[in-house]
Amino acid sequence: MTDRDAGVRYVHPEWSSRWAFVLAATGSAVGLGNVWKFPYMAGAGGGGAFVLVYIFCVALIGVPIMMSEIMLGRRARRSPVNTMRVLAREAGASPIWQLVGWMGMVTGFLILSFYSVVAGWTMAYVFRVADGAILAQSPLGVRQAFGALVGDPRQGLLWHTLFMLMTTAVVARGVRAGLERAVKLMMPALFLLLLALVFYAVRNGAFREGFEFLFRTDFTKLTPAVLLGAMGQAFFSLSLGMGAIMVYGSYLPRRSSIAGTTLVIVAADTMVALLAGLAVFPIVFANGMEPASGPSLIFQTLPLAFGQMPGGAVWGGLFFVLLVLAAWTSSISLIEPAVAWLTEARGVHRAAASALAGLLAWSLGILTVMSFSDWAFEFKFLGMQKANGFFDILDILTTNLTLPLGGILIVAFAGWVMPRALAGEELDVRSRTAFELWSWLARYVAPALVTVLLVFLLLGNYLYA
Ligand code: PHE
Repeated sequence: MTDRDAGVRYVHPEWSSRWAFVLAATGSAVGLGNVWKFPYMAGAGGGGAFVLVYIFCVALIGVPIMMSEIMLGRRARRSPVNTMRVLAREAGASPIWQLVGWMGMVTGFLILSFYSVVAGWTMAYVFRVADGAILAQSPLGVRQAFGALVGDPRQGLLWHTLFMLMTTAVVARGVRAGLERAVKLMMPALFLLLLALVFYAVRNGAFREGFEFLFRTDFTKLTPAVLLGAMGQAFFSLSLGMGAIMVYGSYLPRRSSIAGTTLVIVAADTMVALLAGLAVFPIVFANGMEPASGPSLIFQTLPLAFGQMPGGAVWGGLFFVLLVLAAWTSSISLIEPAVAWLTEARGVHRAAASALAGLLAWSLGILTVMSFSDWAFEFKFLGMQKANGFFDILDILTTNLTLPLGGILIVAFAGWVMPRALAGEELDVRSRTAFELWSWLARYVAPALVTVLLVFLLLGNYLYA
């Protein structure tokens, strides 16, 4: 492909196969969002009410947006910023659409900044669990051990730095060989270990209570905070709204079914989240813990479960290793849009671009590290008490605002701005009905639902003020 915008020597990379894309995109989607964030958000959101809205959002908003992101990326074969610019030009629309790409890049940095800190805790836990020390503790002891880790900025910073170095190292090399292979082995292993944990929860935890908490819907709990939180979590967990899936889609070979691929990724992501919930809540209730205890939830529950299991140190250590890997395959997709843009449009060498992006996200991450110790402050958001200042602000700003906003703009662009014939050709769905279904979701349902929920944010904030 010749490209005047991109300089002479730039060649846009491509996955080795459709299967490689599925793995990479699933690797992006499945991560801390599923195992760490989903359980604590569901816990704070009253369980079943949250889960119901979440699944609803995944199906009606997540699926059409993911299809749109992949489709736009593959059509333009450029970084998200230039994808939006080029496709807007092709459709005769305003170049202002490239702002979607810019907002996505900024969002990626903001998310990675706190994501890396939490991934760092996960790494620290590999060692704490594997050496057995934390496993012999009571619920109170486990809680104190977590507090000691996050309350010490030096440790937080150390692990955060390490994880960011790992992330940049992979992105610097290009996404292809190493990652494709790692994901292939790792995802099934994580899935199996989660199943084993659920099995444990069935036998030794308060499984009934945990199950009911997750799946019995109490409609009185559907507050603006829960609705908005569940929608945001759907975006976060599926990696949508900031260009991660778009840039991965831009490496996708032509002629692979976008609809089928999307369904595989979405199903895998949802399964892992639900399994994580089923593993965590029985332990919560069996030990008289608080479902709404926030970001520390899995770090307090899982060690208890492993502590009572034969061979718990080994299985627990392995579990946290897999979680680190899952976080790793997600974190690379958070800076890939920025790195792709720097290499493609600015001619920066990939290694330099990765280092620069990593440094930026790392610096921002200091805010999160300090949010759990010296710089902690509390505030209220939609009636919910938040205890970890900057971390919560970054999380709310991205999960509840810029991801949904980016998503709505992407799906509206695909549904309304892009010529229908082009969208149809690029999506290449076999049946006419399937295309009409996508088109209906992309044009009306997804934009309308996201708008309604975002309005809830403003309204709710006002109500709870
Ligand atoms: N989906 C990832 C997770 O669940 C996080 C992520 C969000 C990755 C946005 C890329 C973009 O852990």
